[in-house]
This record gives sequence, structure tokens and C-alpha cells, in this order.
Amino acid sequence: MAAADRASLCEANVEDRTIESTTGPEPLITSKSADLVRAELGRRWRTAALTAGLMLAGAAVSIVPALLAGALIDHALPTHDLGLVAALAGGMAGAALLQLALASAEVYTRTMIGEGVSRRLRECAFDCVTSAQFAELERIPTEQLVFRVTRSCGRIGEWYVAGSLLPAASHALVLTAAGIAMLLVAWPLGLLALVAIPATALGGASLGPLSTRLDRAWGRHLERGQEFLQEVFAGMRVVRVFDAASRERQLWRRWLHDHWRSKATTVVLHDLVIAHTGLTAQALVTAAVFGFGAALVAENHLTVGGLIATVALVPRAYASVQRLLTLQGNRARVRAEHERMDALFGLKRERVGGRTPTISVHDAGAGVAFDDVTFRHEREGAGVFNVSFTVQPGEFVGIVGESGSGKSTLLDLLVGLYVPLAGAVRIDGIDTEQINLEWLRQRIGYVPQEPRLWDTTIAENIRYPSECVDPAALDQSVRDAQLDDFVARLPEGLTTEVGELGGRISAGERQRIAVARALLRRPRLLMLDEATASLDTVTARALRDALSASRLGRTLIVVAHRVETVMGADRIVVMGHGRVLEEGSPAELLQAGGRLAALRDSQVSEAGSSGTPAR
Ligand SMILES: Nc1ncnc2c1ncn2[C@@H]1O[C@H](COP(=O)(O)OP(=O)(O)OP(=O)(O)O)[C@@H](O)[C@H]1O
Ligand SMILES: [Mg+2]
Repeated sequence: MAAADRASLCEANVEDRTIESTTGPEPLITSKSADLVRAELGRRWRTAALTAGLMLAGAAVSIVPALLAGALIDHALPTHDLGLVAALAGGMAGAALLQLALASAEVYTRTMIGEGVSRRLRECAFDCVTSAQFAELERIPTEQLVFRVTRSCGRIGEWYVAGSLLPAASHALVLTAAGIAMLLVAWPLGLLALVAIPATALGGASLGPLSTRLDRAWGRHLERGQEFLQEVFAGMRVVRVFDAASRERQLWRRWLHDHWRSKATTVVLHDLVIAHTGLTAQALVTAAVFGFGAALVAENHLTVGGLIATVALVPRAYASVQRLLTLQGNRARVRAEHERMDALFGLKRERVGGRTPTISVHDAGAGVAFDDVTFRHEREGAGVFNVSFTVQPGEFVGIVGESGSGKSTLLDLLVGLYVPLAGAVRIDGIDTEQINLEWLRQRIGYVPQEPRLWDTTIAENIRYPSECVDPAALDQSVRDAQLDDFVARLPEGLTTEVGELGGRISAGERQRIAVARALLRRPRLLMLDEATASLDTVTARALRDALSASRLGRTLIVVAHRVETVMGADRIVVMGHGRVLEEGSPAELLQAGGRLAALRDSQVSEAGSSGTPAR
């Protein structure tokens, strides 16, 4: 979102200087997209009734021109009554205009219903993504989530505009009106015209499953193309650096070729076969009606006007049959979209509500306890196993360990993003499975390993998600995060745009913005996951000193690869293969000559041989 859009949410005059939780509308909860659609249609029953009325009127008016044409030939022409000719011709033109007006009004009301359905589904889908259990959500690729919230919801909504019961009813009404009119004008001729309809419908319907299969394949193909584009465009740096542009171009051309072939097959089936089923039937029936009708006219069983009126009604009836056949094909497509939405709505929700710890006035920060905690990621063998350690209020604890040893997973368990499979994570004595997560997260400052910045200004990024904060508090967090020199050098200062994913600033600057964001919350528990990894030695040390100086009333957990980063900690927990290998004060552990000592020795010798000091 652009800076101006985010900034517009901010109220100019801020009395409250604390960070408030952003309370929005309650999330919409449902497990079935069809229930949601039904509820939305129920809410819009007046518009639906108006649409039905417009359809009825439209169907009645649609047959008027054909009947007036018959009357003109039978009554006005033989008597040379030019006044009557003008009146009937005027009536035909008037009926056509009225039909246009009714159709426009009907499209408008149907669009309102369709858009209402899409909007409701999109609201619910967004709520669902933002309230689903994080581990469940991680299993769905982001592109797919985007597709579902945008395209699937849109398609279901469109179905109620262009392809659902409402238009089906509209086409059925026109067909019925045309059929009745044909039977009233000349029933033997009408019967002949109508008798081919079931055969046409069956012929078209028999192609339905094939059409559905092709449509699905085409939809999947389209999705893959969009995923490909998103990936390549987002990873353009890697594409260029690895000189992979020609490979990606080749892949894109292959996709385009398949797309062209798949589209060509679909077009042949849809636009030629299905459309021609109706057109061919219409042409044959018109010829038969003309032939049989002419014989009836010759034997004085039918007037010329009756013949003309019947012939004019045939395309009306067959166009409706054609549209009904097309709707049949679209229904399967929409059913597939409903299935996708139901998979999204069926995700398990994160718990809401729960207990809040009582904090004393002299509180020294949050106390944390991992009690025999096991959590498994989806992949076999990945996770943390039987982890137990405690962090006292106000303590500074470092977590180190090799890459993939489960350090970040521990922090995600602490903020309730993951739920333990066994054991318990406790904050201030309350199990995170019972604690009020909203309360907890408002009091935690978390700098993830890959901090995410929004495409807006530095200030907006720091105060996220709060729109309005005390400027003095903002400045303090900028200073504490060692950002002040950087900001001072910028012509636009804190209002400098950081670009998409913070792409216009350096990795270290992104990390410090994330630290400032965490500090601004004045957290009782501050968790940094490799938050100084991209900083130079001097800045990293300055940041560590600033964090130590502002430790009062705060517990600090720092995850780091480099042992040096956490040497100032009260205690260090060493992780390996998802388990706690050792735990104690830095001095104790180094003296014991265990894992930590080995890790530090390897890092020191590495730094020595590369000529760079270890952080
Ligand atoms: N979402 C996920 N799905 C499946 N496996 C995961 C997921 N996230 C992490 N893992 C796996 O779980 C293990 C622990 O990951 P974690 O990110 O906690 O390690 P880490 O100690 O933080 O590593 P690093 O130091 O590289 O950041 C790793 O083997 C990792 O591959
Ligand atoms: Mg990690």
C-alpha cells in the first residue's frame, strides 16, 4: 500500500501516546462458501425480487415485436391502413427500446447481487487468512491464497451476475414466453419449432463434461503461468545474476505455446461446437417452419403474418436454449471455485480470547518457560523435540546453534504462531495455549529473521500497525535501533519511502527498522532473531549496548549464529537437531569446554583465517 494510503488512516491529533491494538470488525467465520453466498442472497432478497420482476417483464416484452410484425402483415397491409402500419411499427420499435431498458436495469441489479457476493466472500476469505493457524496457512503457497481471495471470489460472484440461477431463469422465461406465443399463433407450427429443443439440449449437454474438463485444465494452466510470472519477476535479481534470463524466456515461451494450444482447443469446443449446435438447430428448424408454414398458408390454415411471427420467434427460443447450455458448462467451473474456497474456509482458526497474566507495578519483564516442548514441521524430522528451559523475568538469554537446529521455531512457539504437539510453553506462568494471544502479542517485540517491510515510509514501517504514536517515542526507538545517523543523512528523513519489501534500503537498514518497530511497543519481552546479522561490527555492538541500557522491565531473548553476539547474555541455550544440547552462563559453558566452546573456537579461527573479526 502506498504511503499516502497508509498515512490517511492516521488521525492528526493524537492524545493517547500508548500503542493501541488496532481493533477492526470481527472476523467473518464460516466453513462453507455456499452458506455465505446463501446468506448474502438472503440479505439481498429485495434486489433479487426486483431482478425477477424485471426478467418477467423483459420476457413478456421480448415476444411483442414478433407478434406485432404478424399483426402488421395480416391486418394493416391488406387494408392499406398506413396509420395502423405506423402504429404497429412504432410499437415494435417501442418494445425493442423498452426491452433494452429492462435488460439494462436487470444487468444492473444482477451485478449488484454478484458484486455483493464477491465482496462478502473476499471479506471472509481475508478474515480467514488473517485468523487461520499459522502452521496451516504455511502449507498453502502465497500465490494460491491471492488467487482464491481475488479470482475465485470474483468468479463465484460473476456466476451470480452472468451464469447462475438468475440468468438461467431469465433465459428459461424467454424460452417459455416464445414457446407459448408460437403455440398461440399457430400450434402445429409452434409444436414443430419446439420439438427439436430437447434434442438440441441433449446434444449440447453431452459435450458438457468434456468442456468442463478442458476448462479446468485451462484454469490450472493459467494459474501456473501467473505463479511463474510472480516468481520470476520477484526473483529478477537471481535471474540476472545467474544469467538465467534466456532459460526463463524459454520456459515462458513454452507456457505461451501450451496456453495457445489449450485455448485453441477450448475455443474450438466452446465457440464452434457448442455455439454451432444451437445455430445449426436454429437454421434447420427455421427451414422446416418455413416449409411447413408455407404449406399451411397455401391451404389457408395459417395467415402470412402468423408464419412471419413464428419464424421471428424461433431465434428467440433457440438463443435461450444456447445460453442455457453455456450456463451448464460454467456451473462446473464455479463448483471447482467453491471447492477451493471451502478448503480455505476449512482451515483451523487460531484461538481467540483466553487468560491474561497479572503484572505487578514493579514488573521486571515476562517470564518464559519451555516445558518438554515438542513441535514437528510438516517435513519428517524437522522441528523441536523435548525442549525445556526457562527465562526469568528481566533476564537476557541467548540461543545459539547450527543452522536448522530449531532456534526460529522456538520463537514462533513463544508468540503462539505454532502450537506445541506436546509439552507447554508458558509466559508468566500461563500456557500459550490458554493465554490471550492478542494481549500477549501487544506486549512482545519480535524481530523475525527476515523482517518484512511494507512499501511505505520509514516512519510508517516503524509505527506499524499503530497509525498514530507519540513522535518522541518514535524518535527514541529510532535512536535505540541505531537508525538516527542513517535517517539524518536522508533528505526526506523518516518520510523516505523504503520501496517494495524495503528494496530501496540496505539489509542492515531494514533490520534496524524492524528493531525500531519492536522497541516502539515498549515490549516486556523482546525477541531478536539474527537481528544484527547484516550489521557492521561497530553498529551491531552499539545496538547491543543500547538494548542493554534499555533493559529495565524487559526480558531479552536473542537468537544468533555468532557466539560473540550473545556473550553478554545472562545465560545461553545451545540448540542442535531440534534439542537443547547445553544451557548455562557463557562463562560456565565456555569453561566446561562443550558445544558452545567448540562453536566459539571454530568461529574465532574462521574469523582469524579470513582476517575479519567475529561479531
Ligand atoms: N515451515 C516449515 N515447514 C517445514 N519445515 C520447516 C519449516 N520451517 C522450518 N522448517 C525446518 O525445521 C527445522 C528448524 O528450522 P528453524 O528455522 O527453526 O531453524 P533455525 O535454527 O532457526 O535455522 P537458521 O539458523 O538457519 O535460521 C529446519 O530443519 C527447517 O528446515
Ligand atoms: Mg532461524
